[in-house]
Amino acid sequence: MSQISEEIGKRRTFAIISHPDAGKTTLTEKLLLFGGAIQTAGAVKSNKIKNSAASDFMEIEKQRGISVATSVMAFNYLDVQVNLLDTPGHKDFAEDTYRTLTAVDSVILVIDCVKGVEEQTEKLMEVCRMRDTPVIVFINKLDREGQNPFDLLDELESKLSIKVRPLSWPISIGQTFKGVYNLFDQSLNLFNPNKTKIEEDIVTIGNLNDPQLDSTVGKKDADQLRQDVELIEGVYGDFDEQKFRDGQLAPVFFGSAINNFGVRELLDTFIRLAPAPRPREADKRMVNPEEAKFSGFVFKIHANIDPRHRDRIAFLRVCSGKFERNKFFHHVRLNKDFRFSSPATFMAQEKNIIEEAWPGDVIGLYDTGNFKIGDTLTEGEILTFKGIPSFSPEIFKEVVNGDPLKSKQLEKGVQQLTEEGVAQLFIQNMGNKKIIGTVGELQFEVIQYRLKHEYGASCNFHHMNVFKACWITYEDKTEFENFVKYRSHQVAYDKEGNPVFLAESSWMLNTLIADFPKLKFHFNSEFKTASV
Ligand code: G4P
Repeated sequence: MSQISEEIGKRRTFAIISHPDAGKTTLTEKLLLFGGAIQTAGAVKSNKIKNSAASDFMEIEKQRGISVATSVMAFNYLDVQVNLLDTPGHKDFAEDTYRTLTAVDSVILVIDCVKGVEEQTEKLMEVCRMRDTPVIVFINKLDREGQNPFDLLDELESKLSIKVRPLSWPISIGQTFKGVYNLFDQSLNLFNPNKTKIEEDIVTIGNLNDPQLDSTVGKKDADQLRQDVELIEGVYGDFDEQKFRDGQLAPVFFGSAINNFGVRELLDTFIRLAPAPRPREADKRMVNPEEAKFSGFVFKIHANIDPRHRDRIAFLRVCSGKFERNKFFHHVRLNKDFRFSSPATFMAQEKNIIEEAWPGDVIGLYDTGNFKIGDTLTEGEILTFKGIPSFSPEIFKEVVNGDPLKSKQLEKGVQQLTEEGVAQLFIQNMGNKKIIGTVGELQFEVIQYRLKHEYGASCNFHHMNVFKACWITYEDKTEFENFVKYRSHQVAYDKEGNPVFLAESSWMLNTLIADFPKLKFHFNSEFKTASV
């Protein structure tokens, strides 16, 4: 096997996603603990913002810093290099998570067994479905009085529009939770609440009729388990790995992350099932990871919050070939060649300068302002990777300069912060009117704070009565021009110059859709799905 195939085969690049509080941080930490990347629990800083204040956010960003960026956590487990990409815990930063999802090959979705499928879970799954990302579900907090596992599976299927197949099954739940039965290798993993140790009690039984089952969990629960397993086998059929890889079937695990329970099974199965880096779609062709020539794209930019160091780190996912330190690569958008003398990878808390990186790896590149989210680097070929969609923001505000002497600084700050992906920028009147769109109020506070501290600019925001931004495409230019004439105050342009309609209500949007049948309105910038 060639070196590149071998390196690709070893890599698993994924993210953990969940509605806030389901247990993402806890599970991340436990995976790192089991993977040997950290030695003690408590080492992973939560990136949650407890009081929803900008100051909390800034504090967290400072703590994370760029020198110990926890954006990527890589570790080796059973000869596999696991690249776990961090996603923000706060819903106002969901866009950041959506973008990170474009850089992974699979996802672990954490569900709280008490709360079931929550709002953010549904949104995140929508993004996974857009690119058929394989999903493994971990139902967490089995030590609490949660919902019936069969009901939870039904809810997953109906709310997330994906088929599921349990690969482990809980024996009782809450106070009487006894453990999980591994449906794959028919072993019993017994529950022994312990937050610090990582050993579990594993009992292997010959089959479900083994009397050891009754003696270990008691007759009542043993009978219930036999009944449940029979039902599972009848209803869910065999687990089809191909369907999982195609993003159509999600294996489900049960456990309790805080108690280290069910985590080992999840990690072992993840290593076995999760796909290695796969071909990626670019605008002109599919790019195969095994191609000799390097290519990759930037999916995240992390700014240095310290105003004395204005540098940033651009996070690049390698898609094909081999990345090498100090080698010139082509920045497609700028049509310029760059080389990087200190590209970094991140092993848990440590940052290391690397000489080379392979498909599936995420590297941090020092950037002085050359990168935007979505930028592609190649060995010369002109191509752009697809799939960094923007969704319609939910809150829109006009930027009003608070200090006329600092308009240049404001201009630059707004430009750079929106390039980092903090918020979306829409422009009207040849750039004279700037509208910022976000998914949460918190981002406006963060923008105001950062403009002041990093750029010395001051700004106020005027709330706008906009319900949704819809990207417009058209075949008939005259129809579009008529539309603009009629609705000029509601048409703006995104940063790529694509026209966007700022609809004030869903009723008005529907009326206009009917009045202008030759225009197409889209709810995300990818123009492929969710068009209305
Ligand atoms: P998140 O990143 O998805 O937002 O969730 P996080 O891991 O921070 O977990 C949210 C809360 O749920 C935490 O409690 C955590 O301790 C708890 N938790 C995680 N896994 C389990 C589990 O298996 N069982 C039970 N019963 N609880 C679990 P907290 O009180 O909000 O925070 P903390 O003070 O414990 O850190």
